[in-house]
Amino acid sequence: MSGEHGDRMASIRENFSGRSEVYDSDIIRLVPNYEVMLRAAVDSLPFDTGTSPRIVDLGTGTGALAHRILTRYPQAQLLCVDMTKEMLQKAQSRLNGYPNVTYLEKDFYDLQMPPGQDAVMASLSLHHIVTDEDKRSFYAKVLRSLRPGGVFVNADAVLSTDDWVEDLYMRRWVEFMGGTLDEQGVQAVLDRYRREDSLPVLMDQLRWLSEVGFSKVDVIWKNYMGAVVWARK
Ligand SMILES: C[S@@+](CC[C@H](N)C(=O)[O-])C[C@H]1O[C@@H](n2cnc3c(N)ncnc32)[C@H](O)[C@@H]1O
Repeated sequence: MSGEHGDRMASIRENFSGRSEVYDSDIIRLVPNYEVMLRAAVDSLPFDTGTSPRIVDLGTGTGALAHRILTRYPQAQLLCVDMTKEMLQKAQSRLNGYPNVTYLEKDFYDLQMPPGQDAVMASLSLHHIVTDEDKRSFYAKVLRSLRPGGVFVNADAVLSTDDWVEDLYMRRWVEFMGGTLDEQGVQAVLDRYRREDSLPVLMDQLRWLSEVGFSKVDVIWKNYMGAVVWARK
């Protein structure tokens, strides 16, 4: 891992560890349609209720997506992965009581994915993987961890291929935050976005998923820059 890469991961970890207490009340003021997006992600899991699918949640944070997965599948064998200890601790207290949940404090870059998974999911976390090439190889790692027919569901922010559309996405996002944060707050979010986030272009993401070997690729939900991308092995 290069020094620059290590510094960036340290900064991301420091940011989330410092914000773990306020994350849940913050995120709904930063991300338009946060709840709707997570719901769409869980809706796209092709498993009957009452079953116990094996699922990995990448970048669990305080457990928002994990909690929704477990509400639908209380018996799911869920592995929660996050590199920020304080976020995982919040998730652990939130998910306390579900029988088959395990926690792993690990950076995506060093993660060995368990084989035979029914689903691998992520919400608002994979844009922290820095380069396009890193993202593409990470998708290949996800594919290897899925059983045939298993699905990858990634709810996250994306870029457009077109500059005008990209500008529209940004205007709508800033407009949304203008209604939930003061001017300084909006500026702080935008500064952090420029420093720490590496969004993929949606169409690239879809192409990489096909190229690494997913047999079916779709977009389950989209609203301006928010998208739930779905792919089946
Ligand atoms: C914006 S939060 C999303 C949390 C949750 N999935 C949600 O939807 O609210 C991103 C999480 O990803 C984790 N994360 C970011 N980069 C990571 C990496 N390289 N490896 C592991 N976890 C990472 C952060 O620690 C943070 O908890």
